[in-house]
Amino acid sequence: MHIDILTLFPDMIKSFFENSIMARAVEKGIITYNIINFRDFTFDNHHTCDDVPYGGGAGMVLKPEPLYLALNSIDAAKSRVIFPTPSGKLFNQEYAKQLSNEDRLTFICGHYEGLDQRVIDEWVDDEISIGDYVLTSGETSSIVIIDAIFRLIDGVISKESLEDESFSSPLLEYPQYTRPERYCKKNVPEVLLSGHHERIATWRVFQRLEKTMLSRPEVLTNASLDVESRKKFIE
Ligand code: ADE
Repeated sequence: MHIDILTLFPDMIKSFFENSIMARAVEKGIITYNIINFRDFTFDNHHTCDDVPYGGGAGMVLKPEPLYLALNSIDAAKSRVIFPTPSGKLFNQEYAKQLSNEDRLTFICGHYEGLDQRVIDEWVDDEISIGDYVLTSGETSSIVIIDAIFRLIDGVISKESLEDESFSSPLLEYPQYTRPERYCKKNVPEVLLSGHHERIATWRVFQRLEKTMLSRPEVLTNASLDVESRKKFIE
């Protein structure tokens, strides 16, 4: 997959691509990326990217010209163009899966109050919100969306990890422990030391149900246990 990111703050994006699992995916050639500072597409002395809104109101609006030029320079019409915004469609795991099948994605990182509507009308395929709260930067939300997408691409993380995690089934994840066996007077649950795979699997199903009930009860409405887990729950 190729990802283009249009931003006024390239360093915020750069560190994400240069670290951890994303850095490995880039090294393996699974992901290629290009960070474009759309301020480079301004030609006035102050390299102005924003202006006051027509009709009045608070804050500034990103001007259309630098973005049109930047998007044209990368031939973004051939890509799925995403604009993260609190007024977009709510992002979730299903949406991430759908986007992970694309060959090319382009992200427009907004700042200030908004983006000239003509950019959205002409270029944007998806307006996406990552949640019902407002962030100061589209860089943060772009990183969240990219993170959720790229890890679903073949070869980025192991198939077992993907299959095992919370949202492959709607129930939340069970608690994990590692060495040491006793730390700060707290013991690892006995069952995990038993080596008894059936008991461990049953314990994990119960933990997932309990955690979901306590943290996200609404998720249980849509949850259904797979056949194996159902058996363990009934036993
Ligand atoms: N930009 C600012 N807040 C946002 C949100 N909640 N989702 C996506 N982009 C945003």
